[in-house]
Amino acid sequence: MKILIKGGTVVDPSAGTLRELDVLVEDERVIKVEAGITARGATVLDTAGMLVSPGLIDMHVHLREPGYEYKETIATGTAAAVRGGFTAVAAMPNTNPVADTRAVIEYVKKQASVAANARVYPVGAVTRGLEGNELAEMGEMREAGAVAFSNDGRPVVSAGVMRRAMQYARMFGTPIISHCEDDTLVDGGMMNEGLTASVLGLKGIPAAAEEVMVARDLLLAEAIGCALHVAHVSTAGSVRLIREAKRRGVPVTAEVTPHHFVLTEEAIAGYDTNAKVNPPLRSKADVQAVLEGLADGTIDVIASDHAPHADYEKAVEFDKAPFGLLGLETTLGLVFTYIVEPGVLSAPQALARLTVNPARVLGLAEPAINPGAMADITVIDPNHEAQVNPDRFLSKSRNTPFGGFWLRGQPVATIVAGKIFKFDQEGR
Ligand code: DOR
Repeated sequence: MKILIKGGTVVDPSAGTLRELDVLVEDERVIKVEAGITARGATVLDTAGMLVSPGLIDMHVHLREPGYEYKETIATGTAAAVRGGFTAVAAMPNTNPVADTRAVIEYVKKQASVAANARVYPVGAVTRGLEGNELAEMGEMREAGAVAFSNDGRPVVSAGVMRRAMQYARMFGTPIISHCEDDTLVDGGMMNEGLTASVLGLKGIPAAAEEVMVARDLLLAEAIGCALHVAHVSTAGSVRLIREAKRRGVPVTAEVTPHHFVLTEEAIAGYDTNAKVNPPLRSKADVQAVLEGLADGTIDVIASDHAPHADYEKAVEFDKAPFGLLGLETTLGLVFTYIVEPGVLSAPQALARLTVNPARVLGLAEPAINPGAMADITVIDPNHEAQVNPDRFLSKSRNTPFGGFWLRGQPVATIVAGKIFKFDQEGR
């Protein structure tokens, strides 16, 4: 089977370049990248005016299977991923059972291959049951295909345990993805600490709850030489700590979510539980700082932290609702609307944070559109504007604070190993 992607602008996120070229795919590989290709019998994708990017990778996704299939399954989550332009996702281990053994990692991979949507790279737990006490079977999980280790959703409270986990992770050549949060500072908080929280009568979470853990993990990573990836950076202080650490040569990378660069704590003013997320939405100054971090390369990756929850779990009093919001089907539009359009980053630079950078963090093959490369490709219409309609999501859940937002920059086709998923302009 041949696909001719014709008339588009091919993005090279590593080089930061855009070139008008056609791309010929045969079976699962790219075989030709040239101007003016003709290919008899090929399915032609007319991509005039569109960007043809290496497939997007979302390195922070909760697929909820096994155990929470009422929120999402590997099949629905990966369908949402391809709908959002992602050819691959990394699946976090806070499932039930927790992904802390070879068996669960193998199960996730099996379900992903049955679903045959986006690729799924499992992330193994750092500690058994995410409890923070005993290290999980990291070596076995690595052998089974875990690409990184994380207790995401919960912090690794003990510095001693984190240190040992980093020693093993270093040996396996995998990063530790750290959910940086000090429980004693969170202390039952529900949103960013500050005036808005006081006015709403909700208990606040100080920026320091994140920053003290970022500082600790940077010190440990520096001492051990383990690759540390800081998940969902939300505060100006975290950006500053990571920037300084990078200057010192600490092997650290970091990610930010679209909700942390688009929204502030004001999104909670109406007690919208869909804006309840951990780490919490922060202040304008924090948003400004993460944007600066993205612009100067302190923050390497944009990841969604797609965290589905059922309607009935979110339709409760604010303090009873779970933390988390959806991301797979809105990330690309939010990046183009809030990062590319205002000029924080160029389109190739923004796409680097969704392709080559997450691939480097996870040790995956460099995504590129070159002859011989795997045909994982995302076609993006950078000018098409569409309104977010959660009822059209392919995710099983609907918990987004972005319903009704008009976003410019939409995926129009996602190709995974030569298999095309195509969408019309209404998002179906
Ligand atoms: O808001 C969040 N939800 N933050 C996390 O770290 C975990 C996630 C979840 O699993 O629901």
